Amino acid sequence: MKQILVIGSGAREHVIGETLKRSQQDVKLFYFGNSKNPGLVKLCEKYEIGKLDDFENIKKFALENKIDFAVCGPEAPLAAGITDYLLEAGIRVVGPNKKLAQLESSKSFTRDLLDKNNIKGNPLYKNFFDNNGLKEYIGSFKGNYVIKADGLKGGKGVKVSGDHLFSDEEGYKYALECLRDEGKVVVEEKLIGQEFSLMSFCDGTTVIDMPAVQDHKRAYDKDKGPNTGGMGSYSDANHLLPFLTSKDIDEAHHISESVANAIKTELGEYYKGILYGGFIATKNGVSLIEYNARFGDPEAMNVLPLLETDFVLVCEAILDGNLDKINVNFRNKAMVCKYAVPRGYPDNPIRGTKISLDKIPAEAGLYFASVDEKEDGLYLGGSRAIAIVAEGDNIFEAEDKCEDAIKLIEGPVFHRSDIGTESMINEKVRMMEKLRS
Ligand SMILES: Nc1ncnc2c1ncn2[C@@H]1O[C@H](COP(=O)(O)OP(=O)(O)O)[C@@H](O)[C@H]1O
Ligand SMILES: [Mg+2]
Repeated sequence: MKQILVIGSGAREHVIGETLKRSQQDVKLFYFGNSKNPGLVKLCEKYEIGKLDDFENIKKFALENKIDFAVCGPEAPLAAGITDYLLEAGIRVVGPNKKLAQLESSKSFTRDLLDKNNIKGNPLYKNFFDNNGLKEYIGSFKGNYVIKADGLKGGKGVKVSGDHLFSDEEGYKYALECLRDEGKVVVEEKLIGQEFSLMSFCDGTTVIDMPAVQDHKRAYDKDKGPNTGGMGSYSDANHLLPFLTSKDIDEAHHISESVANAIKTELGEYYKGILYGGFIATKNGVSLIEYNARFGDPEAMNVLPLLETDFVLVCEAILDGNLDKINVNFRNKAMVCKYAVPRGYPDNPIRGTKISLDKIPAEAGLYFASVDEKEDGLYLGGSRAIAIVAEGDNIFEAEDKCEDAIKLIEGPVFHRSDIGTESMINEKVRMMEKLRS
């Protein structure tokens, strides 16, 4: 029997828990999170609601329940050192320790890591610690630059010229703001192309990729509106994306493998967890946008339901450094995931209003996120509420099914109807063809 702790309580952690429970082994699941997730609760023996920065309490809960190992969903506890903290109590965590989690928590660290180790994939960039030469460097990109705050900012630290910043002067001002807040800022070249997520299992040496996924950050159809935690994502039956070649995936894989080795050399420790590269396919090949140190949300919902290999074995292989000894397989299905979010999300979301899932067929893939379960039903929590996932032999079939199910959620919610549709995918394919020609 295995007693496993999931840290976190969103839809990502719901699917992590479900995948652990599918194990051939007898798994007793526990979760510690900041909310009551109705789906996770059903899968777990016990759960505790608490703050994710209350490491003492997480440790106490883990020890009380004789946890064999933990899987950490969100980035903040990793960046703050939950892995180091639980290890002191003898509990291993699938997820890098604080030093290694800099790969996500410090954009400048990651750019420098690639640079120093001659790993291809960085755009032109420079880290600034004061405003010396800052204005001139921004100017050198002729209006195509990106300014990145150097820390975890919940998706709000990066500003892109043309999208958020409309002159060099505005860029300079934002860079000064970052300098004032963090003492550091990254300025880089704006790359043009199609972004994709390639998440990999990593034991510090071996890197095994999951199917590639494309996420959609903007709130409204046609990539309009404010940025969100992610409104939905799709992945294809062949584990590529319609606008990617297998060479693109090979390039991305090579970057991740090189990074796993370089970080071991640099910091003297093995990166054990999920290595999630945010890449962009450009006319000059694949470049790195950023690394995350955990599963993507929604991307986890695209890939984990397809995992054929026992996830408990995969986690143990990550922790033991044995990933090269196991075969990791994913089913060949296309997956489309869409989030139903409260009206007004993300800026002024309705919260505390009731929704109903009664009309959704039992076989639909449904994962709970920000909802409160009360005696008389489910209420909106104010952030992304319900993720619906559907599979198909191709993306369009999966999209159709996903749309059919998500439309049945009753209440003041909306979702993006364009994610995974033929017209959207064709547009992306055409864009890449044009760039590459
Ligand atoms: N060098 C770049 N060129 C073009 N777009 C970029 C670049 N860096 C970031 N972006 C855009 O900004 C978004 C957020 O940046 P990212 O580095 O992923 O930070 P975070 O996810 O932490 O907010 C990316 O998804 C991408 O759309
Ligand atoms: Mg990102």
